[in-house]
This record gives sequence, C-alpha cells and structure tokens, in this order.
Amino acid sequence: IDPSIDIEAEIHRLRHERNAVILAHYYQDPHIQDIADFVGDSLDLSRKAAATDADVIAFCGVRFMAEVAKILSPEKTVVLPDMRAGCSLEDSCPPQEFAAFRRAHPDHLALTYINCSAAVKAETDIIVTSSNAEAIINQIPLDQKILFAPDRHLGAYLARKSGRDMLLWPGSCIVHERFSERELIKLQAAHSDAPVAAHPECPAHILELADHVGSTSSILTFASDSPAQTIIVATEPHIIHQMQKAQPDKTFIGAPGADGNCNCNMCPFMGMNSMEKLYVALRDLEPQIHLDEDVRKRALRPLQKMLEMSP
Ligand code: 13P
Ligand code: SF4
Repeated sequence: IDPSIDIEAEIHRLRHERNAVILAHYYQDPHIQDIADFVGDSLDLSRKAAATDADVIAFCGVRFMAEVAKILSPEKTVVLPDMRAGCSLEDSCPPQEFAAFRRAHPDHLALTYINCSAAVKAETDIIVTSSNAEAIINQIPLDQKILFAPDRHLGAYLARKSGRDMLLWPGSCIVHERFSERELIKLQAAHSDAPVAAHPECPAHILELADHVGSTSSILTFASDSPAQTIIVATEPHIIHQMQKAQPDKTFIGAPGADGNCNCNMCPFMGMNSMEKLYVALRDLEPQIHLDEDVRKRALRPLQKMLEMSP
C-alpha cells in the first residue's frame, strides 16, 4: 500500500462507491469498530447480514461469521479482510468427525454453537449463539436428547443452567481458556466492589467467580446498567473500547491471564484484520467468501431455525 494513502478516507470513499456495509464484532481493533456501520455480537451481526440491502458486506470478524453472512445473503459479495481469521472452536470440530459423531447418536438433536464451519452447520439441526442458546434449549421438549458442539465450556454452562443432560463435543476457545483463576481472585481482592462479567466460553472455575455471565452484547448491557464504578471483564479485551465509549467515567479492567495482565487474552484470529486489510478488501473485493451451494443450503436451515426461535 502506498504510504501516502489516507486509509480512513479511502475506506469511506470505497464504501460508498461499492454500496458496502461494514459489519464489525466487538473484538475488533478499535479503529475498525469506529469506522463500522454496525458493531455487534454474533446474533446481531447475523441479523444485520440477513437484512442489509447493501451489495457488499465487508465483515470484520472471523471467517465463520463472514460465512454466516454469505449463507444468509448469498446474492451479496462478502469480503473478510484476512481469510486466515479462523477460530479455535471451528478448528476443534472437523466436519467429517462431527458427521461421524452425529451418526453415532442418531436419537440426539444436534445443537451447534455458531462458532463452527459452514460444513458443520450443514450437519446441524439448530444453531445457537451465546445470546439465544438458553432460550432455544428451553423450547426443546424435555424428552428430546441433545448433543452440543463444539464448545464444551458453553455446553457445560448451558447444561447447568437448563438442568438438561447434554452430550458435549470436546472443543474450546483458546482465548477464554486462558484466564487465570488465581490472578482473577487476586484482582477481585484488590477491587472488592468490582463485579465480574464473563463470557460463557470461559471454563466453569472462572464462571463461578462471575456476577454476570452472557454474550458480548449482554456483557455490554451489564457494564452500562451496573451501578459499580469498576467492572472486571472476562472476555476478549477489545470489547472494553465500547464500554469506555459508553461509560467514560467508569473503570473497566480486563480479567488477567497467568501473567497477571489481559494482553495474553486477545484473540489472535480477530487480530488478523486491520484497517489496511479492510481498505484492500473494499478496493479489490477480495478475499471473498465462496461456499459450495449444497453446503450453503444445508447450513441455511439450522440458521433459519435459530432466527425463528430467537427471542
Ligand atoms: P458473541 O456472540 O457473544 O459475540 O461471541 C462471539 C465469540 O466469538 C466469543 O468468543
Ligand atoms: Fe474463536 Fe475464541 Fe476468537 Fe471467539 S475469541 S473468535 S471463540 S478463538
């Protein structure tokens, strides 16, 4: 890229020229969050992608999220600034192994977290996100057996909350697994009035220390509604950008990893996107999401089911 180019101005020019909408997840670099048309959690972003009348969706998040946009809006051009932006949960659930797992449990309904590949979605009955999973599980008859993939921590949390016995796939998020129970207890002792808000991808020993557990958007709502002056945030720390913008007088502290700070909990996949790569994606309309049409159609059904069952 020519160093004399004003990247921000070029993104603005190209978004109009292309009739593009820029969607960003809360874990993105603050510059990307600020230039986006819409910032949200996985469910909000899916809904926006399904409803947009833009010709191009520039998806600033990870690949499975951009794939969801393409599954729901196949006629749109969907670009992802860096195609390597994957997700450890997706990686932990290879489609062929998941299909074999399903075949081994034909009497189980397959409930799958949206953090998975399109090919795994194609083998699923209902997709859920962390903001609608509980409400969706509560609509499933009690005598229906359920298998849940790929996040074993979210699955175990949902099983505890709903009282349902679910068969869990052994996947996990490398970011949320990194919080240190010991360091978090030390931080709580140092800030005894600060509540902890945690994402349900955290292991149980972290969730047990939390005052609020929920999706990124519910953590944001908790942060603004809480009367507390200081809040400890146990999820990817880039979300603190939105909290600080909405509540400049409050103090938000990222929950620590074993080294005592929150920098080791940044998502390396989300971090692959940058303003420069967003500019190139809008300029070249590459890298672009392409899906096999059969896989897309099969993945669409469980996503539509999710949208119908979401409160
Ligand atoms: P949310 O749906 O809560 O935004 O979570 C997405 C994600 O990848 C969390 O790690
Ligand atoms: Fe995947 Fe974890 Fe990154 Fe979310 S934070 S995108 S679950 S690796």
